[in-house]
Amino acid sequence: MKKFTVKGILIACLVPLVMAGAAQAADNAVVPLENKDCVKCHVEAVRDINGNGGKHQTAVTCLDCHLEHPPMGTNTIPACSMCHDPGEKKHFTIENCITCHYPHHPKQMDFSKIASVKPVCLTCHAQEGQEMETYPSKHAALDCKECHTAHGQAMTCNECHEPHSAEMTYADCLRCHKPHMPSVVRYADDLPSALCGSCHETAAKNLASTPLKHGALLCAYCHKSQHKMVPECSTCHGLPHGEAMHSKFPNCLDCHLDPHALAK
Ligand code: HEC
Ligand code: HEC
Ligand code: HEC
Ligand code: HEC
Ligand code: HEC
Ligand code: HEC
Ligand code: HEC
Ligand code: HEC
Ligand code: HEC
Ligand code: HEC
Ligand code: HEC
Ligand code: HEC
Repeated sequence: MKKFTVKGILIACLVPLVMAGAAQAADNAVVPLENKDCVKCHVEAVRDINGNGGKHQTAVTCLDCHLEHPPMGTNTIPACSMCHDPGEKKHFTIENCITCHYPHHPKQMDFSKIASVKPVCLTCHAQEGQEMETYPSKHAALDCKECHTAHGQAMTCNECHEPHSAEMTYADCLRCHKPHMPSVVRYADDLPSALCGSCHETAAKNLASTPLKHGALLCAYCHKSQHKMVPECSTCHGLPHGEAMHSKFPNCLDCHLDPHALAK
């Protein structure tokens, strides 16, 4: 874009000069168009840019883009690549920029009319595409715009799915699922046990009612990080009772019965 600034200044200075030059040669009083003239005939375009032009209002002028005007010239509509060099960013190599960015309001986009925005999103958000590829799920078959109807916004899970229990909020969903790899269930050590209990009623009930010390532990403290991880008793307790006893009864649960409702 630095390059443009120089070019922009050159264009801004040269175009009127060239036009003025042409006018003089014809020895006719043709006055070159200036930016302030456009509004006399193109009220809508000027209004649109002033309201919604973003950097196309602040960083460039009408004449930076519209180098010539009919009938004097035919180079009336600029190619985006004139300033957004395809060599600069992968995003600038896409075709039909205008399906998303109308140049007079470049940030107001309507994805609903575009068949698939995914390839374009991935030019800037490679990581989300990577996640979908590495951990295939039914979300990977959805176009990004199914959940991101406008740039930077996301629908909540609950707009498409029933929660596992009535109390579960959208923030809870994200504690276990990542939107772009939803079938991989991972969570932090401080995950509230009630969230597991929505599917595992028996374990949750047993643990809640045991008088023994396991009752004070969170599910996620033992079932660490990833769904279906099952811990070994000895990881935390070693072999506490002496070798002879453990070789005779190798299974701790022969005596302690249930990790969620220990017998002691
Ligand atoms: C006196 C009225 C008038 C002024 C002032 C004027 N235009 Fe136009 N403009 C027209 C008309 C009329 C057309 C349609 C010409 C045609 O289709 O042959 C047009 C067409 C255009 C087009 C469309 C060209 C195309 O190929 O479709 C652009 C872009 C444009 N003007 C930009 C500008 C800009 C930028 C300015 C200010 C620097 C400006 N005009 C000032 C009357 C004006
Ligand atoms: C960043 C470049 C850029 C700037 C700045 C810009 N335009 Fe345009 N303008 C375009 C492009 C590209 C098109 C063609 C859009 C299309 O293909 O539909 C266009 C189309 C037009 C048209 C014809 C179609 C329409 O939308 O009415 C007019 C008139 C026009 N511009 C006037 C202006 C005026 C007046 C300004 C300044 C207030 C301006 N433009 C600023 C890029 C620009
Ligand atoms: C005459 C040069 C010029 C042309 C032609 C041009 N742009 Fe730009 N555009 C700029 C500049 C300069 C910026 C501001 C860049 C920055 O600050 O990094 C910009 C910014 C943008 C932005 C970001 C807007 C914002 O408010 O953040 C978009 C989107 C964009 N351009 C799309 C386009 C598209 C699509 C086209 C072709 C239809 C186009 N531009 C044609 C010069 C141009
Ligand atoms: C499928 C829709 C889509 C298409 C097609 C598209 N863009 Fe974009 N573009 C976006 C989105 C979304 C953003 C991010 C906007 C934001 O950050 O608010 C963006 C941002 C930009 C920006 C500002 C950020 C930056 O990195 O400079 C520019 C400039 C831009 N696009 C230019 C272009 C050009 C040039 C083309 C064509 C070669 C193009 N876009 C095609 C959707 C699109
Ligand atoms: C030109 C590059 C570009 C393109 C194309 C682009 N984005 Fe972005 N996107 C960004 C940047 C930069 C941010 C960070 C903006 C911020 O932090 O404010 C962002 C942020 C986001 C966010 C998060 C906002 C937040 O608050 O955390 C989402 C969601 C998003 N983009 C989705 C998309 C989708 C979907 C597409 C395709 C339609 C897309 N983006 C296309 C550059 C792009
Ligand atoms: C726009 C609607 C939509 C949104 C928003 C949405 N999903 Fe989905 N999700 C789907 C569809 C469609 C499927 C596939 C259903 C099917 O085929 O049975 C799906 C499937 C899933 C699956 C099963 C994945 C698999 O491969 O079996 C999980 C888990 C899931 N979603 C979780 C979530 C979570 C968590 C969120 C929020 C971060 C969310 N979804 C947001 C539409 C959505
Ligand atoms: C099934 C719905 C769904 C689909 C499909 C989807 N996303 Fe998302 N995405 C979300 C949700 C929900 C969030 C918000 C997560 C949060 O708030 O932490 C999000 C967040 C993001 C973010 C912000 C950063 C992050 O990773 O949390 C980006 C960027 C993003 N999505 C890009 C994409 C792109 C690119 C695609 C298409 C390849 C896509 N998304 C497809 C639901 C979806
Ligand atoms: C405590 C972790 C946890 C939380 C919180 C959680 N999920 Fe799940 N979710 C899972 C597990 C584990 C599975 C896989 C169950 C299986 O293997 O059948 C699953 C499966 C799913 C599925 C696919 C199977 C089905 O039931 O259709 C969807 C969709 C889903 N979750 C959506 C959500 C939504 C929406 C939320 C938030 C309201 C949410 N999840 C919150 C752990 C969680
Ligand atoms: C959406 C419902 C759902 C949620 C929420 C859920 N699970 Fe599960 N869980 C299941 C299903 C379904 C199975 C498979 C049952 C089977 O194979 O018989 C399962 C199996 C398990 C297993 C057994 C693995 C094995 O190999 O025997 C453990 C341990 C487990 N879950 C722990 C948890 C923990 C801890 C949480 C909270 C982080 C949790 N689950 C949240 C549905 C869920
Ligand atoms: C992730 C670590 C972890 C795992 C795995 C684990 N425990 Fe524990 N266990 C604890 C902690 C922590 C305590 C409480 C210790 C204290 O407060 O002194 C405890 C206490 C106990 C107690 C004493 C209860 C009481 O109230 O005095 C028994 C018996 C016990 N565990 C047996 C088992 C058995 C059998 C298994 C396997 C089925 C098992 N534990 C798996 C961490 C674990
Ligand atoms: C002290 C550690 C510990 C805690 C706390 C704990 N578990 Fe377990 N859990 C285990 C161990 C060890 C096993 C394996 C038992 C076996 O080998 O049969 C297990 C097995 C399971 C199983 C599969 C067998 C079954 O009973 O259905 C599920 C499901 C399960 N736990 C869910 C939970 C849930 C939900 C919580 C929280 C409410 C929880 N666990 C808390 C240690 C724990
Ligand atoms: C033959 C039955 C039996 C087997 C097998 C067994 N235990 Fe025990 N365990 C007991 C009894 C009985 C107690 C209560 C002893 C007491 O309170 O002094 C106990 C107590 C404990 C305690 C609490 C110790 C304390 O100081 O409070 C832990 C922890 C424990 N067992 C872990 C295990 C582990 C881990 C295994 C498997 C590697 C295991 N046990 C196998 C019978 C058994």
